[in-house]
Amino acid sequence: MSNKAALITGASKRIGLFCARSCAKLGYDIALHYHAGQKDAEQAKKELETRFGVQVKLIQADLSDPNAIETVFLKAHNSLPTLSLLINSASLFGKESIIDSTASSVVSQFSLNVIAPFLLTSAFAKRVGNGHIINISDAKKHHPERSVYNTSKLALEAFTEQAAKELAPTIRVNTIALGSFLPPSTPPSQPAINDTPLIRMGTEEDLFKAIAFLDAAHYVTGDTLHIDGGRHLR
Ligand SMILES: NC(=O)c1ccc[n+]([C@@H]2O[C@H](COP(=O)([O-])OP(=O)(O)OC[C@H]3O[C@@H](n4cnc5c(N)ncnc54)[C@H](OP(=O)(O)O)[C@@H]3O)[C@@H](O)[C@H]2O)c1
Repeated sequence: MSNKAALITGASKRIGLFCARSCAKLGYDIALHYHAGQKDAEQAKKELETRFGVQVKLIQADLSDPNAIETVFLKAHNSLPTLSLLINSASLFGKESIIDSTASSVVSQFSLNVIAPFLLTSAFAKRVGNGHIINISDAKKHHPERSVYNTSKLALEAFTEQAAKELAPTIRVNTIALGSFLPPSTPPSQPAINDTPLIRMGTEEDLFKAIAFLDAAHYVTGDTLHIDGGRHLR
């Protein structure tokens, strides 16, 4: 067992798995949360254990259910008591505008994108008491039409600042706001690269460098690190 462990939500594939690989590379054991992607999660566990020699515990849960959060946290903490890092990556990228939205689309996106990180942060603060939390957000704050998603990510960044103030000096809380890394399942009308001053997609290595920086940057809290090729400027 390593002397440090990280809980990462939505980590069976895509950005969450990039985060899990980054943490494993930094020597963290991993509590790898997944929702529906059991096969992906099992494959990720095998890969991380073989490549990096870390322990990986799988935790399945629907994080849009606020009542599930405490159990997820306890499972992670009980199986990996050296837990000192939480990365909130699981998210719903809904496509509803304000007019198209329904009560259920608003509740499901806010539950996963804001309430779950809030409650996990609260559990981390109560039970771990010191360490670091990274909330994964989006550098593009105004995706056309995706008003529910956009608003949820703005709320998540506001929460990061609130938590950083309230939980200092023992817990640091930061946001990594990503530009375009992986295309969504519902592609945008305009290729994201046209919207990126550095004219390329982000890579797993770009994200690793950001996580490694924040992991070592013990004087940084309440900040938003844009890893986005300048996309937030557009
Ligand atoms: N992709 C990009 O280029 C990009 C750009 C900007 C920001 N981001 C941010 O990066 C993060 C990850 O993005 P992504 O593109 O990898 O996301 P994604 O593919 O849309 O989904 C991420 C994960 O969320 C989990 N999830 C979905 N519904 C859930 C639920 N009800 N309960 C618990 N987990 C649930 C899924 O787990 P299962 O697969 O196990 O169901 C999935 O692996 C997000 O916060 C997103 O805003 C991504």
